[in-house]
Amino acid sequence: MTMRFLITGGTGNTGSRVAKALAGEDTSGRQGATVRIASRTPAPGTRQVRFDWADAATHAPALTGVDGVYLVPPVGDAEPARLMVPFLERALAAGVRRFVLLSSSAIAEGGPGVGEVHRALRELAPEWAVLRPSWFMQNFVAPGHLHGESIRTADEIVTATGPGRVAFVDADDIAAVAVRALTDERPHNAAHLITGPQALSYADIAEAVSGVSGRDVRHRSVSVAVFRERLVTAGIPEAFARLLAAMDDSIAHGSEDRVDPAVERVTGRAPRSFADFAARHAAAWTPAP
Ligand SMILES: NC(=O)c1ccc[n+]([C@@H]2O[C@H](COP(=O)([O-])OP(=O)(O)OC[C@H]3O[C@@H](n4cnc5c(N)ncnc54)[C@H](OP(=O)(O)O)[C@@H]3O)[C@@H](O)[C@H]2O)c1
Repeated sequence: MTMRFLITGGTGNTGSRVAKALAGEDTSGRQGATVRIASRTPAPGTRQVRFDWADAATHAPALTGVDGVYLVPPVGDAEPARLMVPFLERALAAGVRRFVLLSSSAIAEGGPGVGEVHRALRELAPEWAVLRPSWFMQNFVAPGHLHGESIRTADEIVTATGPGRVAFVDADDIAAVAVRALTDERPHNAAHLITGPQALSYADIAEAVSGVSGRDVRHRSVSVAVFRERLVTAGIPEAFARLLAAMDDSIAHGSEDRVDPAVERVTGRAPRSFADFAARHAAAWTPAP
């Protein structure tokens, strides 16, 4: 039977990859699953439908006939449970069985922000998985992302992490785990900590980017307060900026200095290294001649 999926955040980093893989790949024999891509600004004539976490009127139409949902929280919202838990209840009432939530390695079940959604999902959903990825490699290349922009405009990466290390992960690997969690016959009913193969400091990242781009990129570590201010200046809401800056402080104290075999265990292939990622994305950093 063809499965039907709603992909929230379907135009974003992981959601777009999940949608593409589901629509085109043979997933557990369920080739070409039907995919509905949620967006606040759907492009006409595509698989996209209008969906806004903040506009409940868009939720029921997006859920019609859906078997499974990929859940990406409303970006920049420090309390996503306020919008996401009522949506979850509505989806369950509409007959959706399976849910895969994008959370973060930094947030445990019941923790702040998306941690509350994680708990609600485990308590309410018959079939579920929570993805807890480390920091995305795409942060260094995505248009509009702070790190990518500061590499391109100032040859620097600014954080409050000091020498702390993070096992950066490729969004392709996160999406590959999501596809398995959505389509495997047996629901995972588990949280997956998703990391790359190696924990690296931001200075290691700067060195790797320098090595492939012809730039001399440096890591500049600042105080938590200065970093938070930088995020707010970049347009990130105050409460969310506070949460992100606190995560940098935790990294400085070693919280993300770990690797986990989940990508290989779930997908059967090893996660991509940052060296490989950097080599593939060198053009994104190479200065114009
Ligand atoms: N970046 C990291 O290192 C990292 C690490 C761990 C976890 N995460 C988590 O990953 C999630 C995604 O982050 P990202 O930076 O990669 O963003 P993203 O998925 O690239 O983009 C955000 C997506 O959310 C949609 N969106 C935003 N506001 C919305 C709203 N009000 N209603 C409906 N859709 C909305 C956007 O769609 P439209 O614009 O088309 O509406 C877009 O598809 C966040 O929850 C973040 O905490 C990120």
